Amino acid sequence: MPMDEVALDHHHDADHKPGFFVRWLFSTNHKDIGTLYLVFALIAGIVGYTLSGLIRWELMEPGIGPMLWIQTHFFGLEGAEAIQHAKHFYNMVITYHGLIMIFFLVMPALIGGFGNWFVPLMIGAPDMAFPRMNNISFWLTVAAFTLACISMTIPGGASGNGFAGGWVLYPPLSSTVGHPGPAMDLLILSLHTAGIASILGAINFIVTILNMRAPGMTMHKMPLFAWGILVTAVLLLLSLPVLAAALTMLLTDRNFGSQFFNPGGGGDPVMFQHLFWFFGHPEVYIMILPAFGIISHIVSTFSKKPIFGYLGMAYAMVSIGVIGFVVWAHHMYTVGMNVDLKAYFVAATMVIAVPTGIKIFSWIATMWGGSIEFKVPMLWAIGFIFLFTVGGVTGVVLANAGIDHTLHDTYYVVAHFHYVLSLGAVFGLFAGWYYWFEKMFGIKYNGMIGGLHFWLMFIGSNVLFFPQHFLGLQGMPRRYIDYADGFHTWHYWSSVGYLITLAATTVFFIGLVEAFVRRRKGVANPWGEGATTLEWTLPSPPPFHQYSELPHFTGKGGH
Ligand code: CU
Repeated sequence: MPMDEVALDHHHDADHKPGFFVRWLFSTNHKDIGTLYLVFALIAGIVGYTLSGLIRWELMEPGIGPMLWIQTHFFGLEGAEAIQHAKHFYNMVITYHGLIMIFFLVMPALIGGFGNWFVPLMIGAPDMAFPRMNNISFWLTVAAFTLACISMTIPGGASGNGFAGGWVLYPPLSSTVGHPGPAMDLLILSLHTAGIASILGAINFIVTILNMRAPGMTMHKMPLFAWGILVTAVLLLLSLPVLAAALTMLLTDRNFGSQFFNPGGGGDPVMFQHLFWFFGHPEVYIMILPAFGIISHIVSTFSKKPIFGYLGMAYAMVSIGVIGFVVWAHHMYTVGMNVDLKAYFVAATMVIAVPTGIKIFSWIATMWGGSIEFKVPMLWAIGFIFLFTVGGVTGVVLANAGIDHTLHDTYYVVAHFHYVLSLGAVFGLFAGWYYWFEKMFGIKYNGMIGGLHFWLMFIGSNVLFFPQHFLGLQGMPRRYIDYADGFHTWHYWSSVGYLITLAATTVFFIGLVEAFVRRRKGVANPWGEGATTLEWTLPSPPPFHQYSELPHFTGKGGH
């Protein structure tokens, strides 16, 4: 045996069996980091979902109930003080619900989890371009989540702990006037940290996709999930620094006497809204584009047909990404904007319906005439298409500045973005989870339990969110702890919907435990001929350090 092959074997033995802590704490392996992200997102998701349970519990009946009960029983407050703190607590809950679901569930799961797992496999790369930076991205995300959780428990505004000004962090609520306590400063630090993690991750994905595709894997042959992650990464790279700038200005306003957002000192609070939404609108596509990619793979696999209009699908994502940067002020029609400017933002926003429509119709065209199998991932994918379309249509309604003047900050908006996110991004997430489960964990899940999870979730989330359209049209404002009796019926049903999703989530965990207890051995490609992308055909796990197995790398240049 030649010398360098002996050296290589030695490496194999040393590298193949890292101890538990080395493997999971210092991981540089894209699949292990992907798994870490998924486990993390599951934990953060439980926190965010519990917070939404508190919201629906409070709103099930008019009056101030459960939040007041929490103040009296857990914090020993009474009378007017208890009521004041209950209101603050409620607003704190909605704020962290939003932030945690966005930054610590959807993004880590779709980008960090599935992106890390499958982009390298799909493009035939041995790993991510910067494996150690990949590890840093993950642990910074954990640090950011920890900071956000601590921020909930320390002094915020005058009436309690945590920041209670909504996830959009508008000053003056987020200034020292609204929240003098350290909770907001810690939240800024948390989002800065999450932002750094995401920027590093975005650089990693862009470099990996542009530089590490296998020979023959041209951009126009690249699987649509990899396209989705590429566009997402570019959006992250261009939008997050703007959020970071706004957060830094807020930080110096709060701590060092600058006046960026204080009109009394010549500043402008509306400027914060512009900066925030220059990030915030692309952020909604950051959350949905990876799901678009996942849905394309699943629809194609279970229709046993190649995706209809592949190039159109890829460039639809690119154009959604580009146009997504020039529509941000549709979130701010009510700030007193010039009417010509409003007309522009209305028109630009409506244009996004075109590439989005291309995607919806291409998914339907892929299914059309196909031999469709309604396996669990396909149920989630079809659910996604239906629900995302509902959210897209109400988005076109809200894009009209005139209509938005009536509906701004009502439950109509809440219903709209939960249809695209809670029912869009999250359904995409579960679709990917069931699609790649066997690939990731090497075991089979129980299809009956997966199906039950889907149907309970589909029914529950529609009962939860559809009535919120009615509430919004009736004038129910968002971020209110109490409401007039006339809103009771639909609030009640919305909370019943939450209970159904709670049953769905319980079924999800039962399915998870069942799969890991039974450990039915999985196969490399459970979906057969329909699944044609590379992640199913590459050996799993692929040979350790694939490049070292290639002839011209053998034994040369240590790894
Ligand atoms: Cu927007």
